[in-house]
Amino acid sequence: MTGLDELIEAAARVRANAYAPYSRFAVGAAIRAEDGTLHAGANVENAAYPQSQCAEASAIGAMVAAGRRRIAEIAIVADGPALCAPCGGCRQRIREFAAPEVPIHLCGPDGLRRTLTLGELLPFAFGPDNLPP
Ligand code: THU
Repeated sequence: MTGLDELIEAAARVRANAYAPYSRFAVGAAIRAEDGTLHAGANVENAAYPQSQCAEASAIGAMVAAGRRRIAEIAIVADGPALCAPCGGCRQRIREFAAPEVPIHLCGPDGLRRTLTLGELLPFAFGPDNLPP
């Protein structure tokens, strides 16, 4: 199994634990941190709809909780005919911990559909470099 297969499988596995009773749209995300460790998370919805959390945010929380700070690549698994790319807010969340070259693998239940870089998804991003040290 390749590293990418392993990352996609981690995202697919955590997707099974998504809490999405309102949208019924389960999403799983898995991050490979720069040291090679994997960190996964699923979407967590809430009856107060705006309090819901995307899978990417959950995965970032798991990575940070594990003491890691840099993302090497991400896999996102969802279902449906359309490509499931991270929402605008999550692109910004990813930017905090990832360089523009970082690959984001967009997957369906049957595997990889398309890989885009963070820079393609969020060009001319505002980020930590914009702020004074
Ligand atoms: N969602 C994610 O978790 N990640 C994405 O990349 C797109 C959307 C979630 C949010 C909400 O729980 C459900 O999918 C429907 O929007």
